[in-house]
Amino acid sequence: MTDGSEQKRETAASFDAAADAYFDSDTHREGADLDRLAAWCADAQRALDVATGAGHTAGALSRAGVPDVLAADVAPAMLRSARANFGVPGVLADAERLPFSAGAFDAVTCRIAAHHFPDPETFVREVARVLRPGGTFALEDQTAPEEPDLGAFINRVERLRDPTHVEAYTPTQWVEWLEGAGFTVEAVERVKTELDFESWTAAQSLDAGTKAEVAHLLAAATPAARELFEVRTEDGTVRSFANLKLLVRARQ
Ligand SMILES: C[S@@+](CC[C@H](N)C(=O)[O-])C[C@H]1O[C@@H](n2cnc3c(N)ncnc32)[C@H](O)[C@@H]1O
Repeated sequence: MTDGSEQKRETAASFDAAADAYFDSDTHREGADLDRLAAWCADAQRALDVATGAGHTAGALSRAGVPDVLAADVAPAMLRSARANFGVPGVLADAERLPFSAGAFDAVTCRIAAHHFPDPETFVREVARVLRPGGTFALEDQTAPEEPDLGAFINRVERLRDPTHVEAYTPTQWVEWLEGAGFTVEAVERVKTELDFESWTAAQSLDAGTKAEVAHLLAAATPAARELFEVRTEDGTVRSFANLKLLVRARQ
């Protein structure tokens, strides 16, 4: 058993080099999902955005009227982006060991990041600890279908494209961890997003061999995976597919 610290160092280094790309990324900088998470937390006085990346969710919380927003991330360049682009101060912190006292926040957000955490259950318990009673946790992440083969398929594709991808979990797994940490789950929403294969692989600067392997995995998907993930090919070339995301609002 390890605490995942080596993996976290590699993840931090990889993201540290990518702050500008994440700031510009269409998936991250806007969307109904971003507005929804911020709206769920709009009545908070003090909010924490865990794994803030370039700071888009922290910025959305500020725009929604939260007066005191703090960002946390393991990559210093991401925290510099959150401050420079959204005026949000940051703390270098691991999502699984939040350096805050119990009940310090009215709301905690974490958007499109938990699939990088080696121990998401510990992360959920940490969020429960730093939220005040009645506080809101707004979580968004990639998710896996409940059917194990389809889940294994999409995690394999994601890991091959991005070695910092640990795992996308099912909605059932998230709800179990949340309820186990004392949360009441108030809303679970699923979103499907079409991804252009060229842009999706370019964002990770894949070498040609790995890109071909990812394309092969998608092109060789079972009929059920092809249908669920909407794999679209033209003359045998993969053009796009869809990934699944989960939005959860939970009350402490
Ligand atoms: C895709 S970005 C997050 C996007 C961002 N939340 C948004 O809404 O645009 C993933 C972020 O998770 C951070 N991260 C990964 N593992 C982490 C951990 N264990 N603790 C804190 N941050 C972590 C990375 O450094 C990276 O900045």
